[in-house]
Amino acid sequence: MKSTNTYNKNLVVIIAAVAATGELLFGFDTGVISGAIPFFQQDFRLTNSMVENITTAGLVGAVIGAMFTGRLSDIFGRKKTILSAAIIFVFGAAWSGWAPNPQVLIAARLFIGLAIGISSFSVPLYIAEISPSKMRGRLVSLFQLLITIGILVSYLSDLAFANNEVLSSWRPMFYAGIIPGLILLIGMIFLPETPRWLMSKGREGESRKILQRIEDPTLVEDSIRRMKNEIEKDKKKAGFKEIFRPWLRTALIIAVGIMFIQQFVGINTVIYYSPKIFMIVGFEGARAGIWGAVSVGVVNVLFTILSLFMIDKLGRRKLYFVGLSGIVFSLIALGLVFAFHTVLGDFGKWMAIAFVWIYIAFFAISLGPLGWLIISEVFPLRVRGIGSSIGSLSNWLFNGVVAFTFFKIVKLFTAPGTGIITHERMYDEVTHTFVTHTVDNGNPAGAFWFYAFIGILGLVWGYYFLPETKDVPLEKIEEHWRKGGKSRELKA
Ligand code: BGC
Repeated sequence: MKSTNTYNKNLVVIIAAVAATGELLFGFDTGVISGAIPFFQQDFRLTNSMVENITTAGLVGAVIGAMFTGRLSDIFGRKKTILSAAIIFVFGAAWSGWAPNPQVLIAARLFIGLAIGISSFSVPLYIAEISPSKMRGRLVSLFQLLITIGILVSYLSDLAFANNEVLSSWRPMFYAGIIPGLILLIGMIFLPETPRWLMSKGREGESRKILQRIEDPTLVEDSIRRMKNEIEKDKKKAGFKEIFRPWLRTALIIAVGIMFIQQFVGINTVIYYSPKIFMIVGFEGARAGIWGAVSVGVVNVLFTILSLFMIDKLGRRKLYFVGLSGIVFSLIALGLVFAFHTVLGDFGKWMAIAFVWIYIAFFAISLGPLGWLIISEVFPLRVRGIGSSIGSLSNWLFNGVVAFTFFKIVKLFTAPGTGIITHERMYDEVTHTFVTHTVDNGNPAGAFWFYAFIGILGLVWGYYFLPETKDVPLEKIEEHWRKGGKSRELKA
């Protein structure tokens, strides 16, 4: 008995570690582009708008991946779906690092984006279905933590390869993604399929065998009974149309709305473009810019950990209003720093980085985890799968729109004569030396104020629509919608 228990624990730890690699990869492969941008932009001599295209390609891939994963993982199983994501991660990383021109880089990023979308859906599902019941509760919050750790790891790896004298530094940054991809691939080969999926295919014997290896022996039969029950209920699951019924409209508005606000306060302009932003405000060279990003990544992880302790104590609404107010404040301040950068001189760049830290800290305790938590809470069981996938699809879609438009918005809102001029070293192929070019970057002040304005709209929206779901049983939330109750009147 004793040895079985030790074996159980080890297996569960291995499962958790391998599956966590899948979530880390999701963070890693969205973050890795930030440190690569300054290098491939110079290497391929790209305009900012081409940089946006390459960044957005990954997000378009993620939307497509997320769209089809639900079906694929039902047909082929969770394990095979994650295995295919791992293969795409490995080949996508190799292809991105190898890309001989920007067009191929776009295709490679689109390809790896598929894996990001697939894993963002199937890895949490795999973990939820295979972990022993008592571990399940903490999963949603851990999901956000693993994304932020993945982003930080990508920044650190970018930093390790960033050499201001070597324009092709971006290649090893992308190649680095092969390693976690291989860990996921090899690990996943040895991990079992989930008992829940096997059961849904009528393979009860195999399902029981796996359960005996991972679940507390006294709970195995209980789990089997519960799974059978759930599968029965699933058969009665609603179709796509049900989610658009009038009584579910509020839940849908909440899920899409929170993701809209989460993305349109510009979080990923910071996550993807911060080295560039820091270079524009006066940090010299890509390495210095990437150091700035690393500090942002550290603040992001630390405050996400803090949020794990606060979310169930303070409740969703309080955290939302405190967090979003902090976000609006720091965006306005950041805009001011850029607007007055000539007056502030060298001090300006330190103020800019400080306000980005404040911004990311407020995001990490509020909108970051709240978005994912709320979409998993507001829908009744029958439509929870479809509902939360609409939520995460909107997340990727809005993310893509923001990444695609950042530099365009910067340009649009730059008053004549206020553009920030930087001197960038570029490699001259004729003389084989570095020459200095003068670049007008526009001024991001207006863009940050634009995101602040959306944040203010978000405060008003939140007052009317954000429900307090803390301590409210999920069934009660459903009852509230059925009665036509207002979102802000939901109470435990
Ligand atoms: C968002 C991502 C973002 C990340 C930053 C997540 O909640 O959905 O778009 O990159 O937080 O930590």
